[in-house]
Amino acid sequence: MPDTLTVTDNRTGKQYEIPIKDGVINATALRQIKTGPEDIAGLATYDPAFMNTASCRSKITYIDGDQGVLEYRGYPIEQLAERSTYLETAYLILFGELPSAAQLKEWTTQITFHTMLHENIKKLMEGFQYDAHPMGVFLSTVGAFSTFYPDAKKIFDEASRKKQIHRLIAKVPSVAAYAYRHSIGRPYIYPDNDLSFTGNFLNMLFRMTELKYKVDPALERALDVLFILHADHEQNCSTSAMRGIGSSHVDPYSAMAGAAAALYGPLHGGANEAVLRMLNEIGSVQKIPDFIKRVKAGEGRLMGFGHRVYKSYDPRAKIIKKTADEVFEVTGKNPLLEIALELERIALQDEYFVTRKLYPNVDFYSGLIYQAMGFPVEMFPVLFAIPRTSGWIAQWEEMILDPEQKIARPKQVYIGASRRDYVPLDKRS
Ligand code: CMC
Repeated sequence: MPDTLTVTDNRTGKQYEIPIKDGVINATALRQIKTGPEDIAGLATYDPAFMNTASCRSKITYIDGDQGVLEYRGYPIEQLAERSTYLETAYLILFGELPSAAQLKEWTTQITFHTMLHENIKKLMEGFQYDAHPMGVFLSTVGAFSTFYPDAKKIFDEASRKKQIHRLIAKVPSVAAYAYRHSIGRPYIYPDNDLSFTGNFLNMLFRMTELKYKVDPALERALDVLFILHADHEQNCSTSAMRGIGSSHVDPYSAMAGAAAALYGPLHGGANEAVLRMLNEIGSVQKIPDFIKRVKAGEGRLMGFGHRVYKSYDPRAKIIKKTADEVFEVTGKNPLLEIALELERIALQDEYFVTRKLYPNVDFYSGLIYQAMGFPVEMFPVLFAIPRTSGWIAQWEEMILDPEQKIARPKQVYIGASRRDYVPLDKRS
């Protein structure tokens, strides 16, 4: 029995057999069904916000939102967070397999030697206002990379793509660190090639007058785990932006500027910043019931709760809670943790949140860790963008090489005025 869907058009009595493959039907198969005698284009689907439409086939990340499962290239996120490093995970996401020892050494060397920024990029960043939001600085600078590396336009040249991959993975922490240093008026710190990926990032952020920055191994590892958790998340808003913009065959830097812009929004990567602001606004455990009441009345959202895909506990949030304990042992407890834990306890018992399957997502606790580590809230979305770079480029490259992909161009259902004649200005009421 072939795997098909039988559609009967009640108006004509005609039957159509639509093939089902990998749990989906091809939307273009519906075009053979005409909605009227004049219809040439045929039947289409209407799906604002892509609630039930797959836009690609992908081998990178698997999510089961009901079971709370997240896997990169088949490896469970829990195992990667426990045993891998961000750089190794980035390799896995980009190239499909865990690297051999020799491949990991070569990859680490390539990334380490691409961390420097062109001096003119520094000058460009200096042009921003002292209080410019670091995410605005980050996405503008990534966009500007396209003018520094015009060879990136050769998107069908494998060697060129690889070079841009090395540059992007290596340079985003430098851009992020410079954006931060700029915002607090401190001189930029050059990368230190003796340090790990996250160790060097902490060095570029926090080094003062000491000759060598001493990295706290617990914080270095915690940041690495957070980077692993944020590396990819299949077809979310920013990744769809990356694929959509990249489908015009623009260079990856321009596409990634758009992806970073999508991540900036408070419903996406800006949520961790919004969580911290929300916790500060609530201010004390006693004020939580009143806050929950206002959320239920539609006067705002419980930031860091809910997810389009996860309808159970976000597996990343579980790992982050453990990482938070490890960080707080070094930094001391974040005073907002008490409010967050109580907020979670109340929300998980409240009928409003239970019936809507709203659980803590990755952003609920990550901000508390970042704050304890000394990051200002404005840096939180930037800390999301650094590791997500590996996911964005992997998804972009998969799209570029996929023969089924074309320039992204959704349909619309036109509901505006019917054709009418132009009215001269003096005849308009
Ligand atoms: N607080 C209160 N109510 C909520 C929340 C929330 N955080 N999230 C969803 N709801 C309600 C929403 O009002 C709606 O209720 P009703 O059916 O009565 O109208 C119902 O739950 C379904 O919500 P939705 O907006 O249709 O769900 P969505 O899948 O479109 O939105 C979301 C997903 C993540 C944008 C949303 O849950 C949200 O705004 N959460 C807060 C922001 C946040 O934490 N974002 C980070 C997402 S995880 C990191 C990432 O991948 O970017």
